[in-house]
Amino acid sequence: MNPNVKLARPEILTLQPYVYAAWDNRYERMHANENPWRAAGDTSELGLNLYPESPATALHTRLAELYGVQLNQVLAGRGSDEGIDLLIRSFCRAGQDSIVTCPPTFGFYRVAAEVQGAKVIEVPLIRSNTGFALDTENLLATCQSNPNIKLVFLCSPGNPPGNALNAENMLKVCRALNGRALVVVDEAYIEFTGRPSFTTVLADYPNLVVLRTLSKAYALAGARCGTTIADAEIIDVIARVIPPYAIPTSTVESVLKATTSQQREKIAQQIQTLISERNKLSDALKQCALIKHVFPSDANFLLVECVNADTVFNAAKAVGLVIRDQRKQPQCSQCLRITIGTPEQNERLLKGIQAAGKKPQVNA
Ligand SMILES: Cc1ncc(COP(=O)(O)O)c(C=O)c1O
Repeated sequence: MNPNVKLARPEILTLQPYVYAAWDNRYERMHANENPWRAAGDTSELGLNLYPESPATALHTRLAELYGVQLNQVLAGRGSDEGIDLLIRSFCRAGQDSIVTCPPTFGFYRVAAEVQGAKVIEVPLIRSNTGFALDTENLLATCQSNPNIKLVFLCSPGNPPGNALNAENMLKVCRALNGRALVVVDEAYIEFTGRPSFTTVLADYPNLVVLRTLSKAYALAGARCGTTIADAEIIDVIARVIPPYAIPTSTVESVLKATTSQQREKIAQQIQTLISERNKLSDALKQCALIKHVFPSDANFLLVECVNADTVFNAAKAVGLVIRDQRKQPQCSQCLRITIGTPEQNERLLKGIQAAGKKPQVNA
């Protein structure tokens, strides 16, 4: 047995999961109180009048193949956001347990923890000009002194930092916490790094959980499909908590169409274009008077430190583009995050920032 299963909330481990209306294509359905006729405008293959397959075996089979893992090691959710939420709800007892985050980082870890009544302990990343790094010793010491830490979230590549974390340090954390806490490696941007996913080491680290999403590289943010990948016994725990029929038919059908081997080739080319655009924009921004520092990026965005963030933010707006304010993140004063767009959008943004840099600055 995976020794990390016992970290879950006891009431989840003893929960009798909801029994779905059985899915069996050999029969016509008169067991789920569905409408026998399709709704107007329903162009789906299955029919939106029917509940989707549950568990979503066709979808899970595709995701397992896409990510190179076993069928029983995946659980699809509405974005990886749902994976984060399920993990926290399954493993953290309200008012007792904690998660660890390493800011600057993705804001939803905190929100999901607060909704569940779990405490958030922060071990900040260490900032340098070559990016943000894990404070491994501090992280391990924090976990040693807090037995109620159940989940450690490591975002790599980080949002908003942009750079990937050192893999050896992350594995060190996994090893040290086995049996004590799950280490959740959020790989929302992994496709832009050229590095192997942590799914490749899953078999050696029973407390490792990997989050993947189709929202970024696969251009399916609107479909809402993220995947939690872990040892089958961990997946079995969080699958108890996901609501019935969680993944809509339209999502399943979009994912099956967008992840064929032919589509994957197109996506691979698009990723290369985005990487080359990212590198080009990064080089050009480094020459801009309004930009103090461009952080190295392994993702589809750039974190930039500005002389004055308001000026750059408004310069983007003046050319019809909105970028993301990151000034509330620790160690990110005057920082903005720029998503890599089409070549035309990137060029327009650059010109806007260059033009604003030539105007005399009025101090607010
Ligand atoms: C690091 C990280 N994790 C998870 C998510 C959530 O992605 P989704 O729910 O669309 O899969 C995001 C979205 O921006 C993100 O940046």
